Amino acid sequence: IPVDDFDLVIFGGTGDLARRKILPGLYRRFCAGQMPETARIIGAARSEHDTEEFRRIVREAILEFSSKHSCDEALIGDFLKRLDYVQVDARGEEGWNALKEMMREDVIKAYYFSVAPSLFGDIAERLMSHGIADDKARIVVEKPFGRDLASAKALNRDLAKHFDETQIYRIDHYLGKETVQNLMAVRFGNILFEPLWNSQYVDHIQITVAETVGVGGRGEYYDRSGAMRDMVQNHLMQLLCLIAMEPPSRFDPDAVRDEKLKVIRALEPIDHHHIVRGQYEATDTEPSYREDAGDPRSRTESFIALRCMISNWRWAGTPFFLRTGKKLKARNSEIAVVFKDAPHSIFGEEAGRHANLLSIRLQPNEGMTLKVTIKEPGPGGMRLIDVPLDMSFAEALGEDAEEITDAYERLIMDVIRGNQTLFMRGDEVEAAWAWTDPLIESWEARGDVPKPYEAYSSGPEEAAIMLHREGRRWREIKG
Ligand code: BG6
Repeated sequence: IPVDDFDLVIFGGTGDLARRKILPGLYRRFCAGQMPETARIIGAARSEHDTEEFRRIVREAILEFSSKHSCDEALIGDFLKRLDYVQVDARGEEGWNALKEMMREDVIKAYYFSVAPSLFGDIAERLMSHGIADDKARIVVEKPFGRDLASAKALNRDLAKHFDETQIYRIDHYLGKETVQNLMAVRFGNILFEPLWNSQYVDHIQITVAETVGVGGRGEYYDRSGAMRDMVQNHLMQLLCLIAMEPPSRFDPDAVRDEKLKVIRALEPIDHHHIVRGQYEATDTEPSYREDAGDPRSRTESFIALRCMISNWRWAGTPFFLRTGKKLKARNSEIAVVFKDAPHSIFGEEAGRHANLLSIRLQPNEGMTLKVTIKEPGPGGMRLIDVPLDMSFAEALGEDAEEITDAYERLIMDVIRGNQTLFMRGDEVEAAWAWTDPLIESWEARGDVPKPYEAYSSGPEEAAIMLHREGRRWREIKG
């Protein structure tokens, strides 16, 4: 079903994110028939391009970042006709009147700020002072949303001067991932799991987002952030919220976000024995983290593992282990709910210990596996083995995995539909920073140096030891 007619302006329209994700995503929605005939996309940036050049850049981006069989010259040509370009100076006055001229009345207006956060306030102000945005307009802002509580508050304040919270869409693209939404469907669409979803039955939960890429190419940005700011404060925190929150009364933006916020506010401070930070080492052919970062003494982490506790009735006593890093063994993101052993084994000691486990795979091969214990087939007596009940979403839906809707295209369409459920509210982001800040301050004050780890491994050994100490172990990182 097509969405309502819209004019979407992308600030930073020729930048990396626009080229890799936003524009190819919009093209795919266009191919899927979701974009109305008259909808328009306006690239706005500092560079001196004209519409023809912008269309050429976008065409190349589509060819480079879309799957082969979704590229059709005729369709691309049609899509490009919907594109315009305007040169604007975010900090000056140039280009804003031209942009105003381009915008139509009586259609949905959305403004995507795919630019550095230091420009958010300037752009918001100019959209208003030039009468370009109306009180129904939506703005979309990218992470990083600040680098600590103070800067996030300042950004929220700057935006709130010009836009109401209901107009602000803070993107965390993890919330747009198919499996992440499925997590809510699995939890709240089935009766099976929810009764067990608490500390009485769950031994612990692991959230892993492992990447094989290093930080080469964006070392300068990354070195000022590190894994905590780049991944944990936002993506892993969102996953943690969805897995731990109470059932919202409705699947609507504030009901869902209220519940997520309660989880963040219930997070306990973490003792430094429960945080392991790491930095990848060089290989024979590839540089080390410090070389990529351009600072031989950098203390920024490219890997972090931590143990969080949530102080509420549902979760008291159940640890949540979070882990993310660059240059790890495989690209593998998973949430694993590890259940407790059955309270008593009627099969005796020799049957061994068996615990159920629910694994929710975000990438690659999105899907779910439930590990159950059964009898080993054959005449050998009552021997127990664990077998997976496996479900790949692509197979279950009969879809080509590549065609599963990308997070960005789904989220952009939600902006046009005016649905904020999968976007972060201002107070949520602030609460996440309020939890993160003291952890970062504490390791900085201690002068903590990240542990080196072998590139393409599972991270520093200390992370494994952290779990061994309490008789648990990480899930294997495998592609
Ligand atoms: C971004 C981070 O937000 O997410 C990157 O800044 C990271 O460092 C990326 O690589 C991971 O996203 P995805 O969708 O590839 O898992």
